[in-house]
Amino acid sequence: MADPKTYTATCSAPVNIAVIKYWGKRDTSLILPTNDSLSVTLDQDHLRSVTTASASAAFEAGDRLWLNGIEEQIKDSKRLLACIQECRKVRKSREEADASLAKMSDLPLHICSENNFPTAAGLASSASGFAALVATLASLYSLQPTLSTSDLSRIARQGSGSACRSLFGGFVAWQSGTSPDGSDSLAVEVAPKSHWPSLQALICVVSDAKKGTPSTAGMQQSVATSPLLQHRIKNVVPGRMVEMGKAVQAKDFDLFAEVTMNDSNNFHACALDTSPPIFYMNDTSRAIVQLIEEYNRSSIEETGKRRVAYTYDAGPNAVLYAEEKEVPTVLALVRHYFPNADFDDTFNLLGAGANASHRGAQ
Ligand code: DP6
Repeated sequence: MADPKTYTATCSAPVNIAVIKYWGKRDTSLILPTNDSLSVTLDQDHLRSVTTASASAAFEAGDRLWLNGIEEQIKDSKRLLACIQECRKVRKSREEADASLAKMSDLPLHICSENNFPTAAGLASSASGFAALVATLASLYSLQPTLSTSDLSRIARQGSGSACRSLFGGFVAWQSGTSPDGSDSLAVEVAPKSHWPSLQALICVVSDAKKGTPSTAGMQQSVATSPLLQHRIKNVVPGRMVEMGKAVQAKDFDLFAEVTMNDSNNFHACALDTSPPIFYMNDTSRAIVQLIEEYNRSSIEETGKRRVAYTYDAGPNAVLYAEEKEVPTVLALVRHYFPNADFDDTFNLLGAGANASHRGAQ
């Protein structure tokens, strides 16, 4: 008898860094956020996850998944199960509607995913990882154009909230939505990478130690205990989303920097306002904040505008944004003031965005 047919697809997805942060879920199972967020998708060449999925009747042990070469138990992860089941379900209904389609939705899957950056560096590996998983399954099952990129983002969201934003390149908003079933909680493109190609991101790896409080646990601690987070959700983020949208559309770096830094500081204030308090930034992170604030203060005196923006996720590493012409000065500045710090891992990410990963599907 001939070997059973094996279907295979490979896709990659980049990391994204939020400039308006997602922090808090209103539904932890469906991963529905308490507020809208907005991010910049980084360059595919530097920080990305690459995933290959194969489906075959020959895989007798059922679905299996390897992450950076180590097997993970799919059945132990509700998030992995949700993404795989959702993609299968759509394929199955298409097979039922179109008899010419190969019957592959019930075939066991083998999935391998690799990051081209150290997972320990505290960079957003779950965002690129789940985005790459969903993009790959969508390619394997030919789910597009039946499903749009925003539809796929709704599936990736159930793997990790921030993953929904990595399906698009450039500037991306995650609309929190209001529906209890999550049908309107999805990512949309605010502007493509080509809109503002001179915007650059620099990642300063302050520490590659694993973070103390993972974001998933930390944000729900904040939801349960922080009055400041409630204020942020109701009174701070809605206005900031509007301002950030304007900054991106107008390529207004000064406004982009102001809103980005204010939002990072507000998010870390909410972490501190949590009981017990969560400290993500360390002394080096705070010293970078002071350095950039000082640099911007002299720049405002000179030109009336800011030149650099910092933002920090749930860890001590700084992401700096600047216009391309400023990058050499910013790199020199950081290296001058932190000659002994571990900044060897400063990535200079040329290009603020990346193409949607699944468009490169094979
Ligand atoms: C601080 O997306 O990692 O990076 O949805 O529980 O997987 P889960 O959380 P995750 O949280 C990211 C938080 C953040 C801000 C952001 O990316 O918007």
